[in-house]
Amino acid sequence: MTRLLAVVALLTACTGAPPATSPAPEQPAAPATTAVAGLDLDDPSACATCHDAIVTEWSGSMHARAHHEQDPVFAGLRSLRMKKEGEAVAQTCAQCHTPRDPANTDSAAARAGVSCATCHALSAVDTSGAQVGAAALTFSDDGVLRAQHDIHSAVAPHGVGKAAPWIADGTSVCLACHGQLKNGQDVVTCNTGPEHAASGVEQSCTDCHMPVVDGPAGNVSTATKHRSHGMLAGHGLWADPPQVELMKSNLEGRLSRSGDRLDLTLTATSGHHFPSAFPGRMVLVKVVGLDASGEVVWHNFTDDPMTQDPQAVFNTVYVDADGKPTLPPYGVSKKRDTRLAPGETRTLTWTVPAGVEKTKATLLYRLVPPPAVAPFGLEGAPEATAKPFLTIEE
Ligand code: HEC
Ligand code: HEC
Ligand code: HEC
Ligand code: HEC
Ligand code: HEC
Repeated sequence: MTRLLAVVALLTACTGAPPATSPAPEQPAAPATTAVAGLDLDDPSACATCHDAIVTEWSGSMHARAHHEQDPVFAGLRSLRMKKEGEAVAQTCAQCHTPRDPANTDSAAARAGVSCATCHALSAVDTSGAQVGAAALTFSDDGVLRAQHDIHSAVAPHGVGKAAPWIADGTSVCLACHGQLKNGQDVVTCNTGPEHAASGVEQSCTDCHMPVVDGPAGNVSTATKHRSHGMLAGHGLWADPPQVELMKSNLEGRLSRSGDRLDLTLTATSGHHFPSAFPGRMVLVKVVGLDASGEVVWHNFTDDPMTQDPQAVFNTVYVDADGKPTLPPYGVSKKRDTRLAPGETRTLTWTVPAGVEKTKATLLYRLVPPPAVAPFGLEGAPEATAKPFLTIEE
């Protein structure tokens, strides 16, 4: 039962959603100097001469590791689905994971993943949600690279032009891949864009995921600050040292006791559900009770929270036509969704035995649910473990 429930979470990720803002009509590109011979727009290391800080940040992000040879979790589900559905399914993944060359995942442009050119060599973005990934992105490929500024002088070795509205608004370009994704049965499996639109939160995606950091974006910039391209989220917990700040920033928690009743009250404050995006994500709440000598004498679960304390798992579960838990791509409906909604306050409750003097809750994050570890070929991999990101003491 447990294993089945957790098998749930295998899915693909997100896609185009209702536009937060519609992009302005395409601007005529400023005096379009085309790429100077020798500058390969699909080679992020070629940008480092002038935009070095950004190249360093991007290199540590999951955008730089979106190709299957760089990401064992993506590789695991990709192989599984290719076996079940045929090799051609990899073409659909490529739309978002290797968007600069979806037809040939072995090319250098594809291996660069969600590369600089993916977001900057654009002349339009379709935010209607009708198309996803590369299909929603119109690549200019005339050597013009644009971001949030109007740049008129041809000071760069590539073309520059008017600010790109889909970049400047901080959300539209993201929705091409992080909006909404439905499976073949028309069931929503990934919903970050609509969750964000419905949240009422004013911040854009970049406000939270591209925080302003000190220093210029590179040696051609005179600014003292820029937005980081590190795109931190869950994977930051696997960095060395672990990057926990963003994960914690989402939550406020308090433990309180009255008699033998213990309450944990959690309030989520991020711009979408927690967790969001890839439906395999899980947040686990592990609570322990300590006696007067500091020894653990009680816990809410030992090894299997889905059966031992289901309230302590924030996740989704999809079922097939027989009502049995299945992978999200094959689900006919979503049976369970215990993720925290943005703005939600939830109280979890336990009865603790006499002798417990003090309690402590630890929140842990999983990239993939335990039953998916073997099918994804992740046994023994660091990505298969649960990582703590927040401790709350009574
Ligand atoms: C030889 C230096 C040089 C190289 C190499 C270079 N650029 Fe630029 N780039 C510039 C200059 C100069 C500007 C003008 C704006 C500025 O001062 O930042 C610019 C502007 C930009 C902008 C617009 C920024 C904004 O503020 O709106 C983007 C996007 C950009 N470059 C991306 C890239 C990418 C991607 C690459 C690699 C494929 C690259 N550049 C390679 C010098 C360079
Ligand atoms: C519409 C765009 C889109 C498509 C199509 C897509 N993905 Fe993704 N995928 C994403 C995004 C965005 C993320 C990051 C979500 C997150 O971090 O939770 C992601 C993350 C993942 C992850 C988690 C990776 C990790 O390191 O934890 C897996 C696994 C995955 N995708 C598998 C697939 C497979 C297999 C396919 C093709 C059958 C596919 N995706 C198609 C956009 C897409
Ligand atoms: C996922 C999309 C995405 C990718 C990939 C990406 N960028 Fe950006 N970039 C942005 C956004 C959004 C901004 C605007 C930030 C802001 O509003 O301040 C930006 C801003 C910039 C700027 C202007 C910085 C400044 O403040 O002057 C430059 C230059 C730039 N990017 C270069 C690059 C380079 C080089 C790469 C690859 C190493 C890259 N970007 C990869 C989305 C992206
Ligand atoms: C062309 C598709 C595409 C676009 C555009 C895009 N992303 Fe992504 N993004 C992905 C994929 C694919 C992944 C997951 C890669 C993997 O894990 O293999 C990802 C991963 C991420 C992650 C890391 C999540 C984690 O688990 O740590 C964050 C954060 C993120 N994207 C934010 C953004 C933001 C913000 C924007 C807009 C500025 C954006 N992305 C634009 C495809 C895209
Ligand atoms: C108010 C801040 C905020 C805003 C706005 C926001 N996020 Fe997040 N995002 C977070 C926090 C905090 C997390 C980590 C906790 C979680 O997983 O929800 C996160 C996690 C993520 C993840 C990884 C999800 C996972 O569990 O692996 C992706 C992908 C992501 N955000 C993309 C986006 C995109 C795309 C937008 C805009 C449509 C956006 N976010 C808007 C704060 C924000």
